[in-house]
Amino acid sequence: MTTTLRTRVAIVGAGPAGLLLSHLLDRAGIDSVVIDQRSRDEIESTIRAGILEQGTVELLDTIGEASRARTVGHRHDGIELRVEGEGHRIDFAETVGRAVWLYPQHEVLKDLIAARLAAGQDLRFGVTAEGIEDADTDRPRVIARDADGARLEIEADFVVGSDGSRSVARATVTGSSTGGYFREYPFAWFGILCEAPPSSDELIYSNSPEGFALVSQRSDTVQRMYFQCDPDTDTAAFSEAQLWDELQKRVPGTTLKQGPIFQRDVLRFRSFVAHELRRGRVALVGDAAHTVPPTGAKGMNLAIADVRLLAAALGALLLDGDERLLDAYPETASRRIWKAQHFSWWMTSLLHVAPDATDFDRRRQLGELRTVVESAYGRAYLAEAYCGWPFDA
Ligand code: PHB
Repeated sequence: MTTTLRTRVAIVGAGPAGLLLSHLLDRAGIDSVVIDQRSRDEIESTIRAGILEQGTVELLDTIGEASRARTVGHRHDGIELRVEGEGHRIDFAETVGRAVWLYPQHEVLKDLIAARLAAGQDLRFGVTAEGIEDADTDRPRVIARDADGARLEIEADFVVGSDGSRSVARATVTGSSTGGYFREYPFAWFGILCEAPPSSDELIYSNSPEGFALVSQRSDTVQRMYFQCDPDTDTAAFSEAQLWDELQKRVPGTTLKQGPIFQRDVLRFRSFVAHELRRGRVALVGDAAHTVPPTGAKGMNLAIADVRLLAAALGALLLDGDERLLDAYPETASRRIWKAQHFSWWMTSLLHVAPDATDFDRRRQLGELRTVVESAYGRAYLAEAYCGWPFDA
């Protein structure tokens, strides 16, 4: 038996992109159905990145009181680049007059899910998209199955693939699930969550001869830290004491405050942009369209920037019958996507030590780091990208 639903916009994937899109469409009076194969609990508990650009926070403000980014999150007016034990602050306020907020992605998701459900949004968990049909007509359909295996068809005016890096929608848009510009890196991050007080008020991005480490935070009692590792590292390969050694030797100049480690993960580094972002009445946003390595924290912010553009384009299409913004979407979104690709790659190469780095490479990298931290222009360049380029640029 097949259940058929009818809506204006079918959104595949209840991550930050899909949920924010349904919210912005709702504000414009456009109804949508959001599906996700994961459970609500899984979505709300998966640990992801933590930095929101100022423009991201301003867009989240539109969900009203329900967005806790400003009240529970922390505004950060700078970061530190640590170079061989020496700290160099990149002052966002002084260089670009902007800021970022430390507010974990799963908290953003909790806020968005609560707000969507409170607004009576049709949001379905445990529903897996199997494919999209009739993309080239004005009645595209999502074919899906619910947790009990029952078939669901969502007939819409438009379908949005916000279904992450293993997107099903991507195959419809690009003709292949992997079709895109791609780069892999010879290192990864070993991430930990620990119960300890913060070791620093601001994030420390540390480049050392032993490799890279990032000291981030989550709250007064929980900290997030990462160190550069081999992509094939097994999370069980280190004892807690060894993990603290690995972290500590990459952050000379600060004695890390240690505490019980309650989560470990390895984040592989990939850069990816799908060859196409739209086909007919189907478009991709967020990780379905692109992936960046985590240095620089652009992933979720870029997803939100796509959604801002697509929401406006769908408003023009569905309310005024005007296709121009939609036709421009791939080109307009690509401009920011490739700027963010460049920045994420650049910050990665600036700070990590490649396994095959020669003495020349190492000295050149220190020269590059000094070019950035010792120059007001260098610091402003980094700060502008880190806080997020203005949406209209
Ligand atoms: C994090 O806190 O998880 C985080 C912060 C900054 C990054 C990446 C991850 O660049």
